[in-house]
Amino acid sequence: MNTPKLAPISALDSLDAATCAALRARLRDAGFTSTALDDAEVIAPRMPTALRIPLVRVHLKHRPGPASTLLAVFVYHFDVPADEMREALGDVLYRSALDARLLDEHADGRVSSRWLLLPFAEHWYLSDPLENGEDAVMGPGMTTVLLHGWSEAFEAKRVLDLGCGAGSLAVAAAARGAIAVAADLNERALAVARFNARLNGVTIETRGGDVAETARGEEFDLVLAQPPYFAQPESEPGSTYLHGGRYGDELALRFVEAAARRLAPGGTALVLFDFAQREGALVGEKLREAVGDAEVTTLAITRPSLPLDLNAVHTAAWHHPELGPEFEAAATAYREHFHALGVTGLTSVLVVLRRPRAADGPRWRVVLPHSGSKPPSPAALHEQLRSMDAAGLPDGALLPLTLVPARGARFEGEWKHPADPDPLRLSVVFEPGSFGSDRELGTGGWHLFALFDGSRTLSDVVREHAQETELGAAEAAKEVLGFVREGLARGLLRVGD
Ligand SMILES: C[S@@+](CC[C@H](N)C(=O)[O-])C[C@H]1O[C@@H](n2cnc3c(N)ncnc32)[C@H](O)[C@@H]1O
Repeated sequence: MNTPKLAPISALDSLDAATCAALRARLRDAGFTSTALDDAEVIAPRMPTALRIPLVRVHLKHRPGPASTLLAVFVYHFDVPADEMREALGDVLYRSALDARLLDEHADGRVSSRWLLLPFAEHWYLSDPLENGEDAVMGPGMTTVLLHGWSEAFEAKRVLDLGCGAGSLAVAAAARGAIAVAADLNERALAVARFNARLNGVTIETRGGDVAETARGEEFDLVLAQPPYFAQPESEPGSTYLHGGRYGDELALRFVEAAARRLAPGGTALVLFDFAQREGALVGEKLREAVGDAEVTTLAITRPSLPLDLNAVHTAAWHHPELGPEFEAAATAYREHFHALGVTGLTSVLVVLRRPRAADGPRWRVVLPHSGSKPPSPAALHEQLRSMDAAGLPDGALLPLTLVPARGARFEGEWKHPADPDPLRLSVVFEPGSFGSDRELGTGGWHLFALFDGSRTLSDVVREHAQETELGAAEAAKEVLGFVREGLARGLLRVGD
């Protein structure tokens, strides 16, 4: 790893609330927004930054103006003539930025920054370039964007950003009007999170300490976490923001455990990480162990993550963006490490924990594979959560509802001969982009499914089932509602529109 190059944090105190407000206005007026960033980020996407840099430089050169100057210095770490930056920020803010050490002036009349300043979702976030030290503070990235998108639709009074890094999710929650708490082991992260709150004109609270202890005894309506989840080879120095243990998922499972115990009744936690596939370790079982006896329902939505070699290349490039011999040694170490541990791939897991409002509500433990090339959309996630909530309703609240097959679920039958009354095989398969596991259905399940076409309430289905099977009303209701609760919780059924 390079010698520490982290910018001094105490100098940020010189930027008071009024200066931060002026800075926000200037950044916005300069067009230094997520749209300008996205335009640069679509260049060679998903490639390590070090490889994309020459093309990004050309892109910015062809678009001279304050937005490009700010992107060049604060996002891509080029240096620019001091006058160019003075024009982009205005004289007063330029001086303030120098005093706060947001900018470093050099003898050759150029300026650069040791900070990253990223526009994201109408706000700006200060963080550290990750190669600058093992305690570098991570700012918003692709996973932050996902968690932010999923979290927006939750109505939450109290939000915990667990392992907050630059506090991006806490600041966004505070901007939506929540009481937001940012928690992290790294004191530098907490200081940066507090600054980001000031920069964006909101208030957050902070908590320090290890995840097992932080915010202990407090309850939240929403807990958001993207723990460090990269595997750490013995030869590689650890980074607080990145490494989660030998396999990488050990620390993430401790985050799951902590999140499960900090939920208010009716609260939800979203924890996003990569799980290392290896023999004898199933994600469902690991989550069950992590959650223990916490009063929560667990939904894990899984999909393939980066192939191992790409993971190795990206991780090595973060630490060694110069792509020299150290990069080569690190990339090799990561690859060999996975091989030595018998890791065969990485699964991206979104763990959703829900604490039911009623203490005696049912607890589900569900793993649903997501077949799409993209992560589940916020709409798809919330639809599945509505189904899981419906699965926990008492009989009286469930019976008036109309149910339909889950979105993307298709039912297929296979007959040996068209004249045969009974099919050979009946199954439900999920279309790309939906989530659920393809599975075979017994004939009983098939008959019941046929009744869920959205035209009947569950009370009607129970009546028809009683007639067809000659069961008594109570027995038929028990059978149908049992099937329905499983179907709703496990992604086969949903409440009709
Ligand atoms: C991947 S970064 C989080 C980034 C941030 N949540 C975001 O989305 O932008 C993981 C964070 O977890 C923190 N962390 C690492 N180990 C921890 C622990 N044992 N307890 C609490 N926080 C920890 C790191 O300091 C780091 O800020």
